[in-house]
Amino acid sequence: MRIIKLDAIDSTNSFLKEMICTETVTDYTIVVAEYQTNGRGQMGTNWDSEKGKNLMFSLFKDLSIHVVEFPFYISMAISLAILKTLKALNIPDLHIKWPNDILSADKKICGILIENVIKNKLNSTIIGIGINVNQTEFNNLPKASSLKNITGVHYNLDEILQNIIKYTKAYSECLQQGEYEAVKNEYEANLFRKNKPSTFKNTEGELFSGFIKGVTKYGKLMVTLEDEVVKKFDLKEVTLMY
Ligand code: BTN
Repeated sequence: MRIIKLDAIDSTNSFLKEMICTETVTDYTIVVAEYQTNGRGQMGTNWDSEKGKNLMFSLFKDLSIHVVEFPFYISMAISLAILKTLKALNIPDLHIKWPNDILSADKKICGILIENVIKNKLNSTIIGIGINVNQTEFNNLPKASSLKNITGVHYNLDEILQNIIKYTKAYSECLQQGEYEAVKNEYEANLFRKNKPSTFKNTEGELFSGFIKGVTKYGKLMVTLEDEVVKKFDLKEVTLMY
């Protein structure tokens, strides 16, 4: 394991990507930053965070050979590793909002950005994680919160990082052993709004109702519509309203 601690960087994902392209990077190489000037989120969004208050890091663990056809298992395993870490800290009411946001009491406290780099025709996966830990102000972000806002406790960032690494190793082991069903079942058991009447927005901006039933191994969301028809949605096709 190699942990690289940075004061400030554009993005830990970009930094690790550059490392992978220019040198040999071994499993569990982790880049942590106190501050990102260009933190990146899913679907081209920004990830902003106050300096020194939150956990922002990128991790390299080559799992691709175990999940060649189904990279979404990496996403499920990482979401579960974070969930387990936060459960151990007694953070209440935790769920995974598909595909991989972590919510506590319906507020987003963690985001995950998984990216791929191709080097010498081989694919490497970078797992970027941002957890709102000790920040207390989230201006203009009504759906965001932090561990401190939820519990009133000030947390040690290093301890949380060490626990995420520990649980990432445990879930990686599950994938290496081929325990795909177990990982998917546990992920689905923790899905936000599973089996609850929910409203969704499609790409045309139209609202529709349905029940989240689970995910496919390709990572599509399975929703039962009012006519009992089950539809499968890609991330770009649907937004869960909450
Ligand atoms: C999301 O949109 O929910 C994903 C956010 C991921 C943010 C983390 S912070 C560390 C790593 N570096 C980045 O630039 N992004 C990820």
